[in-house]
Amino acid sequence: MLTTVRKNKGIKHFAKRLVGRLPWGFRKSVAFVGAYGLVNLLASRPSFVGIYRSFDEAPRSRQKNNEYLVDGATLNLDAQKFDDATGLPLLRNSHSLLPLTASMLAGPNPIRILDVGGAGGVDFANLLNATSALANIQYQVVDLPEVCALGRRHWVNDQRISFAEAMPSEANEFDLIYSSWAVQYFAEPLQLVERLTAYRAKAILLINVPFTTKGAFVRMQINKMIRSWVLNLPDVERIMRCHGYVLSFHAGGDVDHNVDNYPPEYRVSNVSNLLFLRA
Ligand SMILES: C[S@@+](CC[C@H](N)C(=O)[O-])C[C@H]1O[C@@H](n2cnc3c(N)ncnc32)[C@H](O)[C@@H]1O
Repeated sequence: MLTTVRKNKGIKHFAKRLVGRLPWGFRKSVAFVGAYGLVNLLASRPSFVGIYRSFDEAPRSRQKNNEYLVDGATLNLDAQKFDDATGLPLLRNSHSLLPLTASMLAGPNPIRILDVGGAGGVDFANLLNATSALANIQYQVVDLPEVCALGRRHWVNDQRISFAEAMPSEANEFDLIYSSWAVQYFAEPLQLVERLTAYRAKAILLINVPFTTKGAFVRMQINKMIRSWVLNLPDVERIMRCHGYVLSFHAGGDVDHNVDNYPPEYRVSNVSNLLFLRA
């Protein structure tokens, strides 16, 4: 088993070095094929299919269990990248917003962060790599049981991070609530958003969530055939405002899903990053 893992790592390392020698344009094409598959270069497979009013109305996920989430979480923990010239962490898909926000909120006391859908703690690793002023962190991840089990194994020697299968009780307080690529996978995302306001945090940072100013809808993510929401931005802002949170920062993400198969009013190809501050 160990020999196979070493062999695979060796092959990967060799392939990486080989690709690294190709001219720039070729390297970009290889990266595209790596991310989207060879067929996509010519066929442009769409990223989503269907328009539904709720999770119940959409087909059930084709995944037999949550192993694909554990695999994804493991991959993300192993795939941390660093800049060649400086050694600084490379935090793609807006993941640098958490370290930035946390370092601005940090004070003399430990900063308490709740990460909803935080997988195996990849953003905790990012936080450690990208900040120098955060000596004291209490980082709580909420995720599904199998994913929490992976996280606990990975961080067994680090007391600063913990994993829970359910949202903490409202008696708990946090300084920062964070969620990346996750709100859209909850069956009732607006209920979740409202729950996030219960912990008296100074800031709520939601990143990599698909939003529209038109009607919210559910679509099926084709790569895994799982359901995910596109949320209505005014709905979320209204809930936040009702609970004393103001949208202070808003910016589109840097993804570009292929949604050419949708009618114009349902073409949501990007994700959004939103920071709400307690007024
Ligand atoms: C696409 S991953 C994002 C992981 C990480 N936050 C990131 O940005 O890389 C979505 C995560 O949300 C979790 N998730 C989905 N539905 C959930 C639910 N109902 N309760 C808790 N976690 C959930 C999944 O297990 C998974 O770890």
